[in-house]
Amino acid sequence: MSEILVRGLPEDVRAWIASESHENHLSQNEFVLRVLHRAYSGRGSNNGQLPLFPPPSASRSEPDTAVPFSFIDLFAGIGGLRIALEAVGGKCRFSSEWDKHCQRTYKAWFGETPSGDIRRINPSEIPDHDVLTAGFPCQPFSIAGVSKKNSLGRAHGFKDVTQGTLFFNLATIIEAKQSPVLLLENVKNLQSHDGGRTWSVILSTLTGLGYRVFAKVIDAAGWVPQHRERIFIVGFHRRIFGEAPPFTFPEEPNRPAPKLRDILEEQPEAKYTLSDQLWGYLQGYAKRHREKGNGFGFGLINPDGISRTLSARYFKDGSEILVPQGARRPPRRLTPRECARLMGFPDSLPIVVSDTQAYKQFGNAVVPPVAEAVARQVTKVLRWRVATRGNGCLLKSRTVRVLGEIDGCAGERKRG
Ligand SMILES: C[S@@+](CC[C@H](N)C(=O)[O-])C[C@H]1O[C@@H](n2cnc3c(N)ncnc32)[C@H](O)[C@@H]1O
Repeated sequence: MSEILVRGLPEDVRAWIASESHENHLSQNEFVLRVLHRAYSGRGSNNGQLPLFPPPSASRSEPDTAVPFSFIDLFAGIGGLRIALEAVGGKCRFSSEWDKHCQRTYKAWFGETPSGDIRRINPSEIPDHDVLTAGFPCQPFSIAGVSKKNSLGRAHGFKDVTQGTLFFNLATIIEAKQSPVLLLENVKNLQSHDGGRTWSVILSTLTGLGYRVFAKVIDAAGWVPQHRERIFIVGFHRRIFGEAPPFTFPEEPNRPAPKLRDILEEQPEAKYTLSDQLWGYLQGYAKRHREKGNGFGFGLINPDGISRTLSARYFKDGSEILVPQGARRPPRRLTPRECARLMGFPDSLPIVVSDTQAYKQFGNAVVPPVAEAVARQVTKVLRWRVATRGNGCLLKSRTVRVLGEIDGCAGERKRG
């Protein structure tokens, strides 16, 4: 809908539309569309108001895929993956995140402080679960002290190859807990990192641990007004789900992608405007690089488009995503709340840390609506598992045991 005709408005509402559209340099048509769009997305206010017209993906626990399952949240950050899994019926049983600022946000949002350093957590302390989710950091692997020959024939080569990396800790937990499903997220270049070696070690480790692995780079631009490509890795244990679980990654939502205009605050504080000095520096820097034929430089947004990727470095000068403010004023950086929206975090979640920490946290996070779309596809496989293998209680799968409860095999569960 690009045109809108509104009849029968009271005089005071008409006057309000006229003055607001004038102040915002919009036509009345554009202004009314913007108000409607914000009502649809629940944005445009800081009061945590829910969307007036919930979009399809925001409807929690759709009946066709809703499944009760448990999960653990490792390398949790501020819980972007948790938001996604809870939205499709998951119940979090354990979380780990060592950064104290992230822990603060996590506590404010979910009421619990995650356990700290994953390297100090014994897998026996981690409760059983159906889904293991993690946005693990990516590090290069080197074979330390063990020749390739020696590592052959061992139960899982990953122990030699990944020793000393966080992926080693992750794989050790996966092996110990026999997590039925994995939902991992990482940067797009995981596949090309260290000449492709990192990716091949990850893939062969997960396959060696018994998983059928699916991976796809997804651009969040279908869900939020940001170009953000991230790799999602989903694993199903073959012992439980067989060789060919019917998993597919989600399609982009079937509705117009949101625009940056929809996430901008009406009256951001003046402190977000760049100083003349910084703005001058950024322009000079960009000019020098242009002259050398390089594309580096600041990124001024078009409010009707999408932004570049929000990075964890955004707090430094915010140069990759700047909001123009007319010819006379330097542009401004996004506010932390705008960053939250750019990532798809709802306004109802309070920002409880400093601006610097908030920028870092949102820049490091997963986009919850994208992860939710992936998680929803996972729940379809859980349902398929129950539907195709009866109540499935003969298998010692926590997934199946949980699913068994809703499929009436709680008695079997007690025996198992
Ligand atoms: C890419 S971020 C994950 C972001 C998360 N998916 C989100 O939505 O916020 C990786 C996280 O792993 C945490 N981390 C790194 N090393 C860790 C360790 N040894 N123990 C626990 N957490 C760790 C970092 O502090 C960081 O928050």
